[in-house]
Formats: sequence, structure tokens, C-alpha cells
Amino acid sequence: MKKILVIDFGSQYTQLIARRLRELNIYSEVRPWDEVSSLEDVEGFVLSGGPESSNIDGNPKIDKSIFDSKKPILGVCYGMQVLAYQEGGEIANEGKKEFGHTEIELKNNSSLFNGIEEKVNVWMSHGDKVKSLPEGYEIIASSNNSPIAAFQNHSKNHFGLQFHPEVTHTKFGTQIIENFVERCDIKQNWNASDILNQIDEEVARTAKNENVLLALSGGVDSTVLAAVLYKILGKRLTCVMVDHGLLRMNEGKNVINNLKEKIGLEVNLVNAEDLFLNKLIGITDPEKKRKIIGNTFIEVFEEESKQLDGIKWLAQGTIYPDVIESAGNSKSKAKVIKSHHNVGGLPERMNLKLLEPFRMLFKDEVRKIGKAIGLPNEIVERHPFPGPGLGIRVIGEVNEKRLQRLREADHIFLTELKNYDLYYSASQAYAFYMPIKSVGVVGDNRIYADVIGLRSVNTTDFMTAKATNLPHEFVEHVSTRIVNEIDGISRVVYDITSKPPATIEWE
Ligand code: XMP
Repeated sequence: MKKILVIDFGSQYTQLIARRLRELNIYSEVRPWDEVSSLEDVEGFVLSGGPESSNIDGNPKIDKSIFDSKKPILGVCYGMQVLAYQEGGEIANEGKKEFGHTEIELKNNSSLFNGIEEKVNVWMSHGDKVKSLPEGYEIIASSNNSPIAAFQNHSKNHFGLQFHPEVTHTKFGTQIIENFVERCDIKQNWNASDILNQIDEEVARTAKNENVLLALSGGVDSTVLAAVLYKILGKRLTCVMVDHGLLRMNEGKNVINNLKEKIGLEVNLVNAEDLFLNKLIGITDPEKKRKIIGNTFIEVFEEESKQLDGIKWLAQGTIYPDVIESAGNSKSKAKVIKSHHNVGGLPERMNLKLLEPFRMLFKDEVRKIGKAIGLPNEIVERHPFPGPGLGIRVIGEVNEKRLQRLREADHIFLTELKNYDLYYSASQAYAFYMPIKSVGVVGDNRIYADVIGLRSVNTTDFMTAKATNLPHEFVEHVSTRIVNEIDGISRVVYDITSKPPATIEWE
């Protein structure tokens, strides 16, 4: 498969570059700058930004094999500076940082800027800049602060941008990336059927005549994976869904009915509600709750699969951002904020081989193939839901009463979002339960009861997010319904905190 490689120098936007390329129907992969090995089928390179200074010995550099390949190169921010530096240019650090919107003015009619206005608003985020060009290079855009805001060596097909075309704040950013793609010997034809063919081949190569087990969470990734694998494997696929009692209203039933009706797949639903809820009695610490839920999940799943014969593979809906984040590059020092729940460790414990057909896909690609194989929007476009479920949405101790009220409140909130046509414009929305007491008045009586919080965020990557700007009347309507319809709730609040500093989930 022909591809464009994104070389990661540690920028927070690296993944976005790969996503933009995939959105242009170009297959792309991210490689850490110090792990550039096989360049087979690589038709171009985009060098990402990064936190270092390019002219310091020991800092990340462009691998020689990239230059030797003679394929087109687009350097972005640090990627531009290191390209200039290694080609013989000079980099300056004048101690002045440029961050945010800047206007650039185009020069010398570069094909990189075809179809773009003379003066463009772009997004900058840098300290160093290119001070003098290498031989054979020319300036193609300038800003007040950066006379060399973009350069090219047209005959070598080398381009550099001081700004970030991959972020949405840069006007015409996608057009610039598409113009670069045109310089590469690659067609914009990576689509859902290519992806499905590739998965077909992979499964044929690996789990050829063997049986596969899949842990279905009900989320988009594992549900689409179940459907894709069922089409390939038929009865050789067994799906198990563990109901930990922390699912939303009718969730287990809905997912199972949908898969049965739409594609004929039968899922084994294991009811383990009592086991989970008993283990959670008296536990209030979020990390402890997460660990208990994760470990109990593994215990139940393992026990359940003992009853199945001849399983050799465990299929997981791991997607590309998980792979990039867990691999990182040799310089990344990501901190654990929350221990996310997954089925990590299961394949080794159960002595199963691991099948992860989505590990090179972004979520929007998983959605695309979900639609292509006929799954309804209700499944494919649904908001993400965390593995530990409502267990981390009841703040503090989890018990059946709180879960019941939370399920009802969450159901009201999501139903009304759909009724008002607001659901699909939010990235993730949910209700959470706060066991703090607040005074209210219902009819002539005083009540002293718990509080429901509502959270809705908009985000492209779930790493940063903003609260959705929901209409006041809408929030008021949902609040009225929740307090009127659910016993034991006296008040509703709406969380408007951004991420960072807050996270999306409360626990
Ligand atoms: P935070 O709260 O870290 O959440 O801002 C970011 C996204 O991750 C989801 N999330 C999880 N997903 N297992 C998951 O599969 C987990 O343990 C988990 N914790 C948080 C969260 O819902 C949001 O979409």
C-alpha cells in the first residue's frame, strides 16, 4: 500500500497530520524520528513539529535514508527547521516566541500554495526560526516575525512551513497538505473498501481456520469490529459482552438487538452485576474503583471463556491513537493521569494470540467502515463511553440506588439532546451523580437530596476539549425533567470546565 510517512519529532499535533492525510484518502503512518526503518511504498514524508531546538547536537534529526529516498518532504515547524539545518541553512533562537494567529504573505508562486489567497491567517507555535536558507532554496511566504515563514527547493521537492497546516486555525491548511500530496506519486484513493480488503487479507493470513473470541464493550470500535469479523469468520467468531451493572439504560439489550437484527450476529451477554457491585461496596477512591472494575472484568471474561472450546485468538478494537500513544517516541514522557480500563494482559493470561485489525485506523475511519457494512447511525455515530462505565460517573461510592437514578437522568439528557438535534454536534455528553445533599422544595415540602451534573464537550481528539455551548432553555428543560421525574434528586448543574485543566470524566 503506497503511503506518506509522518515523522514524529514529538509535537502534540503529530497525530493530526496523519489524520488530515487520511481525510484526504491517503494512507499514512506515524513513525518516531529514530525508528525510520523500511521505506517500502513510502511516497513522501511530512516532518512534524517538536519541542527541541534543531541546531543542537544530540537533538532529533532527519534520518539519512529519508534524504536518500529522494521522495518529497514537507517539514512543519521543527520539521522545517531541522530540514533547513541539515541542508546547510542557519537557525536562530532570538528568545522571542510566536504563538497563535499570524498573517503570512505568499511569495514566488509556489505550487504548495495553489488555490490560496495572497494573505492568509495561519497558526504559529515556535521559538526558533530559520535565519538563512540553504543553497537552492527560496522563500515562498513571510510574516512580520518570520521573514522565512515558508520555503521550498522545487527541484528536490522539499518544502518547509513555520506554521501548522494540520490545525483547523490555519486557513487553507488542508488545501496546503493536499497540494503537497500532489507532488507525491500517490493517488487519493484510500477508502472504506480498501480498508475492508486489507482486514480481509490480514484475517485470512492470521486466524485463517481458527476460532476468535471478542470482548464486546458496546462502544463504536468493538461493535464495528464484531460486525466486520462476523462477515469474515461467521460462526468462528464468538462475542462476549460482560454486563458489569455499570452500563447505561438498556445498553446491553440495544447493542445485542442491533447486531442481531442488522447482521445476524448473536452475542453472549454475561450478567455479572452482583459480583461487580459487591466488590465496589465502600470504595470511594476513583483509581481503586477503576482497578477493581478492570480486574473483575478480566476475571469474569476469563471464567466465561473457559467454557468455550478451541479458541485461539482474542480480537480487540484497539485503534491507531492508542498505538501511537502507547508507543510514543523515545523522547516522550507522558504522565498517567487515569488508568484507563482495557483488556490489557488478557491475551498472555489466556494464552491467546492477539488480533487487532483496527490498530492502524482512526475513529472516523472505523465509523466509515461501520457505515459501509450497513450498521445504523445509532451505533456508528454514538458518543464514546468509558470502560468502567457508570462506575466512574457516580462520584464516590457506587450503589444500586444511585446507579438507577443516574441511568434515568442520563437517559433524559441524551434523549433530549437527540430530540433537539444537538446529540451529533456534541462529541460526548453524559450525566453524573454527585452524592452531596442540597435543599429543595417540591410542592409544599422541603427535600434534602442528591445532585445530578450534566457534562457535554466538543473535541476532535479527546485530549483537549471545551464544554458544549448548549442553549440555556435546553439545559433548563433537561433540569426540570430530571428534578420532576427522578425521586431523590433536588438539583441539576452543568459543568462548563475545559480540558485541561479538567478531564472529560469526573473520576
Ligand atoms: P478523560 O476523562 O481522561 O477522558 O478526559 C478522555 C476520553 O476517554 C474516555 N475514558 C475512557 N475510555 N476506558 C475507556 O475506554 C477508560 O477507562 C476511560 N476513562 C476515560 C472518556 O470517556 C473520554 O472519552
